[in-house]
Amino acid sequence: MSSILFYLNGQRVVVDRPDLDMTLLQYLRSTGLTGTKLGCGEGGCGACTVMVSRYDTDESRIIHSSVNACLCPLVTIDGKHVITVEGLGTSANPHPVQERIALLHGSQCGFCTPGFVMSLYTLLRNKPNPTEHEIEECFDGNLCRCTGYRPILDAAKTFADMAWKQGTVAADGTAHVVEKKGGCGIDGCCRLQKSPEAVVTNGSPIVHDPIKAPTSITSGCGKGSECCKVQKRHDSGHAESTAVNQAEADKAAVIAKFQRYDPTQELIFPPFLIRYAKRTTSDSEPQLLPLDIASTDAQSWCKRYIRPLTLSALLTALEQYPDAKLVAGNSEVGVEIKLKRSKFATQIYVNDIPELRLISETPEGVAFGANITLAKFEQALDAFTAKHGERRTQSLAALRENLRYFAGNQIRNVATIAGNIVTASPISDLNPVFLAAGATLTLASTQGERQVPITEFFLGYRRTAMRAGEVLVSVSVPFNKEGEVIRAFKQAKRKDDDIAIVTCGLRIRVDENQRVVDAAFAYGGVAPTTVLAHAAAKAAVGGTWGDREVLDRVLGACQQELKLDYAVPGGMAEYRTALTTSFLFKFWAVSCCALRIACAESALAHELDEEERVVSKARQEYAPVEDRAIVGKGVAHLAALKQVTGEARYVDDMPPIAGELHVGLVLSTRAHAHILGINADKALALPGVVRVLTARDVPGENHWNIFKDEEILPADTVHYYGQPLALVLATTQKTAQEAARLVAVTYEELPAVLSIRDAVAQSSFYDETRQLINGDVDKALAAADLVLDGESYCGAQEHFYLETMGAIAVPKGEDGEMEVFASTQNPTEAQMVVAEVLGVPASRVVCRVKRMGGGFGGKESRSVLIAAFAALGAHHTGRSVRIALDRDEDMQVSGQRHPFYGRWTVGVTKEGRILGLRARIYSNGGFSHDLSIGVLERAVSHLDNCYRMPATDFVGRVCRTNTQSNTAFRSFGGCQGMFLSENMLCEVADRLILSVDHVREINLYQTGDVTPFSQKLDDWNVPQMWAQLKSKACYDERRQAVDEFNRQSTHRKRGLAMLPTKFGISFGVKHLNQGMALVHIYMDGSVLVAHGGTEMGQGLHTKMAMVAAETLELPLESIFISETATNTAANTSPTAASASSDLNGFAVYNACKELADRLRPYRERMAGEPFAKIAKVAYLDRCNLTAAGHYCTPDIGFNWMKNEGLLYFYFTQGVAIAEVELDTLTGSHSTLRVDIIMDVGRSLNKAIDIGQIEGAFAQGQGWTTTEEFLYFPNGRLFTTGPGNYKIPSAMDIPRDFRVDLLEGSDTSVLRTIFSSKGVGEPPLFLGASVFFALRDAVLAKRREVGVPGRLVMESPATPEILRMACEDQLAQMARIPGVLKEGKTPFVVRI
Ligand SMILES: Cc1cc2nc3c(=O)[nH]c(=O)nc-3n(C[C@H](O)[C@H](O)[C@H](O)COP(=O)(O)OP(=O)(O)OC[C@H]3O[C@@H](n4cnc5c(N)ncnc54)[C@H](O)[C@@H]3O)c2cc1C
Ligand code: FES
Ligand code: FES
Repeated sequence: MSSILFYLNGQRVVVDRPDLDMTLLQYLRSTGLTGTKLGCGEGGCGACTVMVSRYDTDESRIIHSSVNACLCPLVTIDGKHVITVEGLGTSANPHPVQERIALLHGSQCGFCTPGFVMSLYTLLRNKPNPTEHEIEECFDGNLCRCTGYRPILDAAKTFADMAWKQGTVAADGTAHVVEKKGGCGIDGCCRLQKSPEAVVTNGSPIVHDPIKAPTSITSGCGKGSECCKVQKRHDSGHAESTAVNQAEADKAAVIAKFQRYDPTQELIFPPFLIRYAKRTTSDSEPQLLPLDIASTDAQSWCKRYIRPLTLSALLTALEQYPDAKLVAGNSEVGVEIKLKRSKFATQIYVNDIPELRLISETPEGVAFGANITLAKFEQALDAFTAKHGERRTQSLAALRENLRYFAGNQIRNVATIAGNIVTASPISDLNPVFLAAGATLTLASTQGERQVPITEFFLGYRRTAMRAGEVLVSVSVPFNKEGEVIRAFKQAKRKDDDIAIVTCGLRIRVDENQRVVDAAFAYGGVAPTTVLAHAAAKAAVGGTWGDREVLDRVLGACQQELKLDYAVPGGMAEYRTALTTSFLFKFWAVSCCALRIACAESALAHELDEEERVVSKARQEYAPVEDRAIVGKGVAHLAALKQVTGEARYVDDMPPIAGELHVGLVLSTRAHAHILGINADKALALPGVVRVLTARDVPGENHWNIFKDEEILPADTVHYYGQPLALVLATTQKTAQEAARLVAVTYEELPAVLSIRDAVAQSSFYDETRQLINGDVDKALAAADLVLDGESYCGAQEHFYLETMGAIAVPKGEDGEMEVFASTQNPTEAQMVVAEVLGVPASRVVCRVKRMGGGFGGKESRSVLIAAFAALGAHHTGRSVRIALDRDEDMQVSGQRHPFYGRWTVGVTKEGRILGLRARIYSNGGFSHDLSIGVLERAVSHLDNCYRMPATDFVGRVCRTNTQSNTAFRSFGGCQGMFLSENMLCEVADRLILSVDHVREINLYQTGDVTPFSQKLDDWNVPQMWAQLKSKACYDERRQAVDEFNRQSTHRKRGLAMLPTKFGISFGVKHLNQGMALVHIYMDGSVLVAHGGTEMGQGLHTKMAMVAAETLELPLESIFISETATNTAANTSPTAASASSDLNGFAVYNACKELADRLRPYRERMAGEPFAKIAKVAYLDRCNLTAAGHYCTPDIGFNWMKNEGLLYFYFTQGVAIAEVELDTLTGSHSTLRVDIIMDVGRSLNKAIDIGQIEGAFAQGQGWTTTEEFLYFPNGRLFTTGPGNYKIPSAMDIPRDFRVDLLEGSDTSVLRTIFSSKGVGEPPLFLGASVFFALRDAVLAKRREVGVPGRLVMESPATPEILRMACEDQLAQMARIPGVLKEGKTPFVVRI
């Protein structure tokens, strides 16, 4: 057979001679089903999730699985039913999953959304009434960078069985609720009364003054104290509150309108496929047959694909093709193909062979078929444990334990045991447990079967004892014996969906006298292969388990045996060594407890076993908006329904234009070098390659960015590893990328500098300096009780927008015109640079942005380069050119958040009051200026955070290094500046033995204080919010509880931190503080708004439409925003600096106000008539129904030389409290609770602003905890994808997350649109409260082990940093003496 048959969204599809290299994702997208997204291509983000259903002949049932389409070869889909996000519903008629995620604000940029929809949908197909826990777990393979997950979880949990219990769903087992009353429960509750109808669609409009909007909010409906809205509420753990919580009322009102979820209405599994799988189809129907497909494409990597259906056919095929690659779940093989560019000419698919999926039981144990999926393995393990009881099945339970955090659902649903064992990865999660359990492997070939103990299977790095022609048939795991205990432990950078740093299976067996008769300690992550710590086991055998001497002996032996060299591949030598003993120590305690051996450690076993993760919960709070019709309300993102249904189009979703070409990037393999030659002969010889472009082919200006210090393509020098040197244009992306790798570049290497510290040591700086000097710092230091010097560092951060950068350039064929569709926050700069590069006037170039799948600053300037590449290609070929970066390319070329390093000297009183601060701060700018000076300015001007510093001497410099050019990232230097000072305050508090929260509190600015940049604080709400949150979140009581917990607990410590923030709003560059809009009212009454801001998920278009609707006094539905384009909004500022709703909002308002004024006479004359009629009459009367609006921020402009003028128009402010729990033996932690209060003025859209706060918080949390951006010492980027760069997952968010908006504050001094404040960036720094809470927990441990005093802790506080900072005995044992580090290069470095 050479064709495959499957169903796609209910329709039968037959593909004859399928492309053997094609993934399911590529196939779907090529057919126009672009709802399924490419986020990474390596199984790490879940954006490509689809549901694959199949009839399982072993279990005689249909199995629905969420699957990563990016790792699923198309050919493996034969006989299955694929459902994509398009198969569920449309924006007009969404599926309940889609509707709920959309309307409960679970979609911001929307790029991750189809993946989340499909994960939840799959869960519901398998279990229509899941628990909240199951719902949270179903997202373990999905990443979202925008929302902070909370709203997605909230929406998903409306399907939970808990909802039944709480009465929000009907109890008939199928129907979900339709009716739920919001309000307080009292009949006729005031909260359920309709707000006064304020939308006037005709009659005389009353246009609000956007600045002089009322500042006090009337709470309640007018019944005074009788009103439910002003009744006092009690909330568990909270102080009394008199505020009305409109957030809850809004949520209840939305939920009440949800359509019923009826599982019986889902797309059915085609009955034909059941017959097909059972091989009972009639003669006239297609049959399930073995496949043997030879590729018809000469360039195909896979030449032959074989799918046998029996073991003997497999063995025969393997004999015939001894070099064939077996493919099962493809989760290893697919990644090898994608990332390591491996090519396997013959592939044999083994997952459709029943003999490899058998599970059988003997009195000695269980034999698991090698190719059962890990999902099925989990179920089987649970079933055997339930059947045989815990004691005999401990090995099975240990395997289950490690599977809990093994990849995500989508991987576990396809990946197999054999795939894990045979890969022989040193960090396999299963192999150590199999080793410790004493498993045996059954291998088969045409020569027969043989059994191999797994202890003899692993020979070296990814080498096994399997012979040519053999396959793994099964793995047998013995039942446990009397006196035996086995446990598994794993530590990764991120708890969920992350590969191990160290993983292990540890087993002992004792006799009746507790004497150890057998021990096996198997480790992964400490050697080239999974190893048994023989010496440690030997040290245990014969000893009495529970005897402290034995423990010391075993730990010592383990430490000696597994200690790592400083330069060990994988790095983290000390940490990994510490983990080996820490796990053994945990095992000691847990096993003693299990064996009922009384010892000091067994009493603490409860602290050491993996605890059940509690289901997260959240609450948001804001007051109702009663004086406005639309602005301020919690309206859902206007494109949300399109995003959840896959209808929303991103650049790479646009259909190809005939003749379109793709770009492949030739990337530098040196960090700094002269280019001696670029030879593209081999690339050009590849069929499909059209051109190779280098610097010589740039017709116009090759230099770009504001300082013009960067080349589009380098002419003779490369400045970083990964820099694009040339562009290959070819007919497919695959060919273009393949050809790019064939371009030979010769270099003459030059010295390179990577890290800030090295750059500072070598004085490798850009020329510019920024300083803020006030008062006499020397005098202040002289007067201080304590003068402290120190250093602080915070690392880089990758934007990790889910949609990588991309652009399509379409040449118009005349006058040099070019249309560029780009994923950019900066269409104007893209237009200008494209025009300069092509040497044409800007008027010939139009840049269009429909939406972005996230930006976060990363697409502010660096995206311009990508647009220029596409335009250059289009210019030379006259054909449309598309570029869509792979994740690893994106991470190598796009620039990140600047790492910062600061040296400081601070003088304080003995009470902790700051008298003066001298700070020298340095950022790593990378190889070009880009936006580094702006970032530096913001860092320098945020060093004060919220604290009064009477004397300051701040100087900032940007380091020139040979890394990619670091760039804007949400908070733009602000968070780095604040972090350095907060770290300094912590060390001050350490030295004074004071609580740092107290030190923060006594130093807070008060109204009227003046900042180091000479700005008087007149709109200052931090002290009020500090007090409010402290009381509401019961800080004092919780501080006591945390201290008490720490007294009681040895190995788990809790930490608490309270953190304020203020963030200045305005662009640092004066001319950027302007916005523009163009508004058309068409004669049918519909309104088209164009403005200068771009939509990247932050809800800007929604807010702008709300401003337009409010101003024009029209319903929101009549406003439409199509795109951002440079021919409708010219000379726009980038969508950045949290200022876009201020700038564009006012511009939209000004245009709409003008139109409203022009229409007033018609409206008055035609009172009661529909607006469409009014518009038509106005048109016929030749009234101009188009208006342009412009706005520039008044009074702004700061002179850095003189420290004069207004730097920021206002400050957005906030306070957070974070509470964490740290496992001091591993460094892993969980964020127990976070409370935030944020002053966003009078919000334009409260629900969207809450979403921005939660999303920014998660990014700040990731920046300071899990996200470690690393380079190899030769300048190559190490962290090139989700596999080794870890943004927070849904499980990392606070278990209890409470967000309030500050209400009722005096906004009279604000001169912003409808008195709102920018919100995109300011909350990000509050995520660092988790870092500071962790620091607090580490301090508790250090005090306990007798390491008091000052703690210096870098960010991000990875598990490695946290664990080693605990400085307990095991950490100290693992330390490598300085002499052994000398002359050695670490595996990876922070820059
Ligand atoms: C996002 C992601 C997360 C991951 N997380 C983890 C993790 O947390 N822990 C972990 O340990 N691993 C992890 N992995 C690695 C991988 O998923 C596992 O190793 C998985 O078990 C591989 O199974 P597979 O069926 O997909 O193997 P495949 O990729 O299909 O094959 C892997 C190897 O096994 C061979 N093979 C398959 N079946 C047989 C057989 N019957 N006989 C002989 N050889 C055979 C293949 O030839 C190939 O060499 C992760 C991978 C990804 C992509
Ligand atoms: S694109 Fe498939 S998991 Fe990321
Ligand atoms: S909404 Fe999830 S990544 Fe943007």
